[in-house]
Amino acid sequence: MPKTQTATLRPDGLSCASLGPSLSALLREWLPRQRWFAGKGRPVTDLALLSVTELHPDCLHILVRAGYPQPSANSPLGGIPAHDCYQLLLGIGDSLSPRYSPAVLGRVTEGPLAGLLVYDALQNPRSASQLLERLRTPGTAGALRFERDTRVPIPGGLAPRLLEAEQSNSSLVYGEAFILKVFRRVRPGINPDLEVPWALARQGCTRVPVPVAWFRTSSPWAATLGVLQPFLHGAADGWAQALAALASGHEFTEEAYELGQATAEVHLALAAAFPVEFQGASETALLAAGMAERLRDAIHAVPELLPYASGLRSAFTELAALDSPRPAQRIHGDLHLGQVLRAERQWRVIDFEGEPARPLPERRRPQFPVRDVAGMLRSFDYAAHARRPWRPDWALRCREAYCAGYAAEAGWDPRAEPGLLRAYETDRAVYEVMYEARHRPDWLPVPMVAIARLAERPGLRRLTP
Ligand SMILES: Nc1ncnc2c1ncn2[C@@H]1O[C@H](COP(=O)(O)OP(=O)(O)O)[C@@H](O)[C@H]1O
Ligand SMILES: [Mg+2]
Repeated sequence: MPKTQTATLRPDGLSCASLGPSLSALLREWLPRQRWFAGKGRPVTDLALLSVTELHPDCLHILVRAGYPQPSANSPLGGIPAHDCYQLLLGIGDSLSPRYSPAVLGRVTEGPLAGLLVYDALQNPRSASQLLERLRTPGTAGALRFERDTRVPIPGGLAPRLLEAEQSNSSLVYGEAFILKVFRRVRPGINPDLEVPWALARQGCTRVPVPVAWFRTSSPWAATLGVLQPFLHGAADGWAQALAALASGHEFTEEAYELGQATAEVHLALAAAFPVEFQGASETALLAAGMAERLRDAIHAVPELLPYASGLRSAFTELAALDSPRPAQRIHGDLHLGQVLRAERQWRVIDFEGEPARPLPERRRPQFPVRDVAGMLRSFDYAAHARRPWRPDWALRCREAYCAGYAAEAGWDPRAEPGLLRAYETDRAVYEVMYEARHRPDWLPVPMVAIARLAERPGLRRLTP
């Protein structure tokens, strides 16, 4: 256990107003360096504490609003909101074992915490254990409420381990038995990563780990803050498995077929759990307009897209022309190989948050399930282009197997909706181009290969030998 001396905070010292100046300088420096920080590469220009709660005498729960400059429209950083709210758990003490020095934000120079050391509590096993204890014993701490499904036993004393994976949140594994996802970017409303697995479990769907405990806040607005669920021991994610198959020259069609079945099972359960609505001409026109706008922004930011502009736009005009009503329902919203785990030959689906950059009401709206299918198809293509030599034929076989598996379970084949599928794949590939241009320019050729393919109008493609 790390040596942390208890700092006794005066209750009257715990206010956003008094702590703000104490923590501001440290947070401005530390936040932009976190991998879950959305405004990567940009300075924090304004910072405001939205809530402060004393979880333990040496651990503060904080919601902080960070603002960063909005980039100009023709920058690859375009389209990112200028403010985000982040959840922090900060440990406070006189000292911390050097073993945990990467967790340290620094020493406070003024205000009620003057002279004390501040560190990321999730990186400290003692604080991480205290958090699990809070979840085991439901109750409140200020505006925070800890809740659990008391039918599921959670043993005490499970050793915590922070996941090192590239993540948009922070996840702690406890005793290889449970995993706690602490949402970093917090938005008002219930998080679908709690709402959806619960609803699926009620439908008897076994494709998702079911939440066993969670915590939320009511200040400054109601929001879900974290979810504890069973840890699938020995499971590997679909991306790792696909790359391993490629590296050893193996096919992935059996896995892809079963993944298609799993996706369809989840979609059927979602359609049973949440309202389904029929969307026709006006909704598809709106959807197409949104995609066209994203394409316009992307072309401004990444000129490599320009030669394909008219071909890509044709995918969206075709979508806008689809006028017969189709069922829309709750979907995963961000489905790809990194969001599926396989253990004991069973695929499980995780991370129902949807696109973290979008507001929750938008993510929770009914959408066409083909969107998830398109996400997975893009992911096969990504895997096939992750290493040289590129294997587009491998991706094509995965694609067919995945759709066949989906059709076998759902009773309808996504390939029977080529217009919808092409539009969603195009929208996704445009997003990927923006992402790679911004974060990993070396990877830009991967979505660009897809862009070239998707820009070919299907009618013309048939004419080519
Ligand atoms: N129930 C689970 N069992 C095993 N590993 C999990 C589980 N849930 C998440 N993980 C691991 O944690 C990683 C991140 O989880 P995810 O929910 O996708 O978080 P993020 O929103 O940060 O992407 C996954 O890629 C997976 O490796
Ligand atoms: Mg994820």
